[in-house]
Amino acid sequence: MKIFLDTANLEQIKAGAALGIVDGVTTNPSLVSKEGMDFKTLVGKICEIISGPVSAEVVSTTCEEMVKEARDLAKVAENIIVKLPTTVEGVKALKICAAEAIKTNLTLVFQPLQALVVAKAGATFCSPFLGRLDDIGHDGMALVEEMRLIYDNYAFSTQILAASLRHPLHVVQAAKAGADVGTMPYSVFQQLLKHPLTDIGLERFLADWKKSQG
Ligand code: G3P
Repeated sequence: MKIFLDTANLEQIKAGAALGIVDGVTTNPSLVSKEGMDFKTLVGKICEIISGPVSAEVVSTTCEEMVKEARDLAKVAENIIVKLPTTVEGVKALKICAAEAIKTNLTLVFQPLQALVVAKAGATFCSPFLGRLDDIGHDGMALVEEMRLIYDNYAFSTQILAASLRHPLHVVQAAKAGADVGTMPYSVFQQLLKHPLTDIGLERFLADWKKSQG
C-alpha cells in the first residue's frame, strides 16, 4: 500500500519525506486554510519536496468553473492531482479532465455507487472517507472492501485512496482490505514504527552488549 501524508504543513511534509517512505500528499481546503499561504504557492512548494502525487482541491461548484480551476492547478507541477468533489458537476468536470489527461482524485466518497461512477468516468484516485463514516456509526472499512471487489470485478484502474484515517489500526485495516493508498495525518504517520517492546528490546540488547565489552 502506498503511504500519503494528509497535510499541507511544509515542516511535516519535509519531516515525513526524510524517512523516505512517503509516496504522496493529499490536501484539502480545510488543511490549506491552516497554513496562511497562497494556495498555488503552497502546493508548488509541496511538489518540490514530494515527487509523487500531490492532491490539490478545487473550491468551485459548477463544472465549468471546476474545469477552469483544474487546468490552472495542473500547470503548477507535473505531479499535481486535481481533487474534485463527488457531485454531478464534479463528475462532469472529471470527464473533461480525463479527456485532457489531467489526473484526478474524486473526494468525499461515502458509498460504493459513487465509487463505481467515478471509476467509470475515469478518475485516477477515488477517496472514501472512512473516519467520517465511523463517526456516524457506519463501518467505514466495509466501504473499502466493497470498492476493492467492484474495481477488481471490472478491472478498473482507478486507485482506492483510503482517507480520513484517524489511527494506526485504520491503516492496518485499509491495507488488509486492499486499498491502493492510505493517506494519514502526520500524527498517525509518526506511530507507524512505534512499539514499546521494540524500544525495551533494543535497550536490553545494547545494555548486554556494553556489559560484555567491559
Ligand atoms: O483526506 C481526507 C481527510 O483530510 C479528512 O479527514 O479526519 O477530517 O475526516 P478527517
